[in-house]
Amino acid sequence: MLEDRIRSWDGEEVVVRFDHLTGTWMFVCIHSRKLGPACGGTRMKTYPDLEGALADAMKLSAAMTLKMAVADMPFGGGKAVLAIPLAFAEDQRTELIKRYADMVESLGGNFQTGPDINTSIADMDLIGERTRHVVCRSRERGGSGDPGPYTARGVFHGICASVNHAFGSPKLQGRSVLVQGVGDVGSRLAEQLVAAGARVLISDVATERVQRLVDSIGATPIPPEEAIGSDCDVYSPCALGGTLNAGTIPQLRCRIVAGSANNQLAEPDDADRLRAANILYAPDFVINAGGVLYAWGLEALGWSRETIDARHRGIGDTLANIYSAAERGGVSTEAAAIRIAAARLSAGDRAATSIQRGPL
Ligand code: PHE
Repeated sequence: MLEDRIRSWDGEEVVVRFDHLTGTWMFVCIHSRKLGPACGGTRMKTYPDLEGALADAMKLSAAMTLKMAVADMPFGGGKAVLAIPLAFAEDQRTELIKRYADMVESLGGNFQTGPDINTSIADMDLIGERTRHVVCRSRERGGSGDPGPYTARGVFHGICASVNHAFGSPKLQGRSVLVQGVGDVGSRLAEQLVAAGARVLISDVATERVQRLVDSIGATPIPPEEAIGSDCDVYSPCALGGTLNAGTIPQLRCRIVAGSANNQLAEPDDADRLRAANILYAPDFVINAGGVLYAWGLEALGWSRETIDARHRGIGDTLANIYSAAERGGVSTEAAAIRIAAARLSAGDRAATSIQRGPL
């Protein structure tokens, strides 16, 4: 039941609005403001039911809290879901986004948003006409633009650190990486991996996207249904979450899982399942922080490009520390990462974060 779900959530606040004109449910979940205002993207999607939409918003917003804490950013975690009906007409989009922007504005800066699945830089421009609590407007409008390539950059560093831990060298030459989902982030990642000498396999339900990358970078296409069981050094989930579960983990034929998708584990036990299978897992909220470091770093903290680059490399260092800590402690890498976040959150106030300390 919706009420039980909201009551038992460990976050701070759930804001709900129903948009009668389009039949859209809007959820803004503010998970934590302990380290600063709750930040997170806006996802637009059709869900099978209302409860699924709310559950997604809650889980994604909790992941943002962990992401910000591990990245040592002075922000908390939030997320918005616009659950559009199946019959949603795209010509209603502009007006819906404007009404949603008013909702963001009404939260007075407690929630700051940016793009996520199915929302664009143009949407952020539109939101920016109604509220200043938005990042990733277009460069022409004074925003930081598309964060996708920067999320990919962070994942790239994370893959190098993971390869180093598993194989004793960070070199990607001769390593095979399967990028599952080649949208905004996955396609950029695939390009960077090829440039670094990796053998790149790609898979996506959108065959045109796959073909484009096969033509442009010489990646090897893998049919979507074969992706999970493909032999590779690194499996990199860069599409929707929840793909690692009790059913799929035994099928994996990789040494490492390291990708950009949020909430890759269907349930917490999956972290232990990966560990038992001797698969090194890069916790998603650690490895996919590159976009957040870029967008909020640039727009809210005034970081230079050099600082942002250093922070992106820092994702690799953080993962290396997490891998060692997990081994020492005999726990999953997910558990080790959560410990870091928990320590930052309990140290708690904004003064404890890197805003004073500068880059890593
Ligand atoms: N969608 C991003 C995430 O899940 C959130 C984000 C918004 C990142 C804006 C960068 C910029 O991390």
